[in-house]
Amino acid sequence: QRNAKVAVMGAAGGIGQPLSLLLKNSPLVTELSLYDIVNTPGVAADLSHIDTHSKVTGYTGPEQLKDSLRGAQVVIIPAGVPRKPGMTRDDLFNTNASIVRDLAKACAEVCPKAFIAIISNPVNSTVPIASEVLQKAGVYDPNRIFGVTTLDIVRSNAFIGEAKGIDPQKVSVPVIGGHSGITIIPLISQAKPSVSFPDDKLKALTERIQEAGTEVVKAKAGTGSATLSMAYAGARFGFSLIRALNGEQNIIECSYVRSNVTDAKYFSTPILLGKNGVEKNLGLGKLSAFEEKLLQAAIPELKKNIQKGEEFVNKK
Ligand code: APR
Repeated sequence: QRNAKVAVMGAAGGIGQPLSLLLKNSPLVTELSLYDIVNTPGVAADLSHIDTHSKVTGYTGPEQLKDSLRGAQVVIIPAGVPRKPGMTRDDLFNTNASIVRDLAKACAEVCPKAFIAIISNPVNSTVPIASEVLQKAGVYDPNRIFGVTTLDIVRSNAFIGEAKGIDPQKVSVPVIGGHSGITIIPLISQAKPSVSFPDDKLKALTERIQEAGTEVVKAKAGTGSATLSMAYAGARFGFSLIRALNGEQNIIECSYVRSNVTDAKYFSTPILLGKNGVEKNLGLGKLSAFEEKLLQAAIPELKKNIQKGEEFVNKK
């Protein structure tokens, strides 16, 4: 059993709490560090009574931020405000951009080699923000910063499993691009097992995957966005990072990373993970004509989101 210390930043939140529970429940995690600006002592005390081997410590307030990151190999960041009905992920930019910037600054100082997995939205912009911050600090390694898009894959698997009467755990759909609206590109033509849909169904299913977050925002009617399914997806991605760190082979996850696969500087594709993070970008694979069109529509939007993130860091 190797050591894996995981820090969750925003651990007392709607995503942070169930994410921390799933991490506490896993034998892959040996130390769990919980940081939030509020309520982490309570969350940590609560989780520490669970009879799994990992040690849980809570940290709170800016003065404990750096201590929370010391020795962390994996840092998962769900800190920030969630959407309310009528908001897009980009509407969160003003609040969440500075939260991610400040957390990335602390990572640059305390755990520059850690894998950083960003959940805080808009992911299309927050990954460039964290990257620019690390670059400015002189510790940027593009192979170690990940935008968590796993929920798009999880949703695709769930919806297709349901539509086809297949156990969703046995379905695997790559989702590429970014993590908002039209930048989310499910590659249903590459689904395993292979599935097919009539054109109108395919279009409706694709749009449902792209707008699935909004489905949850609407259903929650003002109380937030996806938390439980996001925690599940964040934990899955975190476990894959730990497995890769432990030297397990063939760990593949789609993730939004620094990329030269397309014109967009950051782009999600299936990634082979290794001890140093991104080991190999597995690229787009073969796209159908329909998916090719989705890709063309996504690129300008992605570029705009990326530029907005970079400008936010560089204007100051
Ligand atoms: N440092 C650490 N934690 C912070 C900070 C900060 N600077 N600012 C806010 N937080 C914490 C809040 O105290 C809260 O506990 O982040 C947590 C966010 O929790 P919720 O408000 O419940 O939001 P949640 O649903 O978890 O979503 C958080 O993830 O998916 C994204 O779009 C979502 O960007 C949003 C984020």
